[in-house]
Amino acid sequence: MASLVWSDDFATKVFEIDVQHKTLFTMVNELDHAMQHGKGKQFLGKLLSDLVHYTKSHFETEERFMREHGYPGYDEHKEKHDKMTRKVLDVQKEFESGNAHLTLGVMVFLQNWLTEHILKTDLRFGQFLGRKDSPRQAAAG
Ligand SMILES: [Fe+2]
Ligand SMILES: [Fe+2]
Repeated sequence: MASLVWSDDFATKVFEIDVQHKTLFTMVNELDHAMQHGKGKQFLGKLLSDLVHYTKSHFETEERFMREHGYPGYDEHKEKHDKMTRKVLDVQKEFESGNAHLTLGVMVFLQNWLTEHILKTDLRFGQFLGRKDSPRQAAAG
């Protein structure tokens, strides 16, 4: 499976969010790499748990920004985060209980979700902030 590669297409232009997205790319790539190289359950479990925690704190960062800026798409965006949080917690639970292995399918799902969410949902918020912070736009009402 190809690694996630950052490009400007993913830039929300919100510094803190872009830094966190780059970190998420790295973490998903590390997990994928470890899985493909047959690393042990404990090692994979640690990477997976780090990814779950980082994802949660990333979602919290975005949601805080959205609230602070009165973003009208907040509920819809947060619902997507909540759904994904439930999904990754499920994956983690299944993995920890030994019912399921990390598979290529799970990794593809994580990659696709992350890239699609950034491109379709996070960028929309970035554009909203960009417009909001532009003095010219504000002056034009
Ligand atoms: Fe995000
Ligand atoms: Fe998001």
